[in-house]
Amino acid sequence: MANAFKDKPLEGKVAFIAGASSGINLGIAQHFARNGARVAIVSRSEEKIAAAAKTITDEGYEAIGMAADVRDFAAVDEALKTAHDTFGKIDIVVSGAAGNFVAPALGMSANGFRTVVDIDLIGTFHVLRACFQYLNRPGASLISITAPQAVNPSLYQAHVCAAKAGINMLTKCLAMEWGPGGVRVNAISPGPVADTEGMARLAPTPEMEAGVKARLALRDYGTKTDIADLALFLSTDNANYITGTIMDCDGGTGLGNAEGDALGDFK
Ligand code: NAP
Ligand code: COA
Repeated sequence: MANAFKDKPLEGKVAFIAGASSGINLGIAQHFARNGARVAIVSRSEEKIAAAAKTITDEGYEAIGMAADVRDFAAVDEALKTAHDTFGKIDIVVSGAAGNFVAPALGMSANGFRTVVDIDLIGTFHVLRACFQYLNRPGASLISITAPQAVNPSLYQAHVCAAKAGINMLTKCLAMEWGPGGVRVNAISPGPVADTEGMARLAPTPEMEAGVKARLALRDYGTKTDIADLALFLSTDNANYITGTIMDCDGGTGLGNAEGDALGDFK
């Protein structure tokens, strides 16, 4: 029964989530809190992160929100230190801050490309590198948030593809280096998730959204809860033997274009 699913599997645990003022990462923070964790969340905007933390404390759970730009190592370290000083050793870290815009390589400046690599890839290195000294070891679980663009070359996404591919490899390298210290490092690759800034940018019209869904094996967007459930599982003792993996939670995005009617009358 050691691995039975518990009612509040994160009871007594401390979680730090970067990029959690909105969207998927805020969904993860809220889910972690409802499952027993005390959570520290960061993003660039003081106002947005305070409002996000309030959604959690309003439900009666413990949370602090701090402004920190993941491109600034010292700011990330300071936020982690505050989380540690407030709640104690950190058990779970999610690195999910990201930026995206749709543009061809010839339509972006060097600074445009660099900005996304800085937030997504360098920012993830900052969060994971800085958190190590504050971790509750052995047993800590680190999760980076990647994307299908890491493995699927995508038009107008050269910056994101490059940054997220780097995150996948960084995740695996850190899993190798830190596994002997009892620290697991995994990544989640969400597919298209409903009601997020990411999909508002990538498929801004109803026609584009319908097109994305038509090509997906599961024919629909995922929800923030779908992603948060996987993050929760990876952060529990049930996932004790999982490290260095890139877990797709993507409705079949990684399978490729599933448009067609292969089921025929068997639907
Ligand atoms: P979102 O709501 O825009 O979340 C991005 C978060 O990152 C925000 O909280 C933003 O807050 C923060 N952020 C941006 N730049 C930052 C920086 N330099 N330093 C610190 N925080 C920063 O987007 P989302 O669509 O939910 O995406 C969340 C994650 O899921 C991203 O890693 C994204 O690549 C990944 N993902 C999303 C989808 C999808 O369908 N949406 C699919 C695959 C992967 P501030 O503005 O307050 O800084
Ligand atoms: N096309 C081409 N280049 C673009 C662009 C676009 N649509 N949007 C921004 N850029 C370029 C800017 O022109 C600038 O380059 P320049 O200095 O050579 O002109 C560079 O990117 C940085 O832009 P800036 O607005 O100064 O960056 P920022 O750090 O304030 O914001 C972004 C970062 C650009 C990623 C912004 O979109 C953001 O804050 N995103 C967070 C939310 C998000 O993307 N959510 C979805 C996550 S999947």
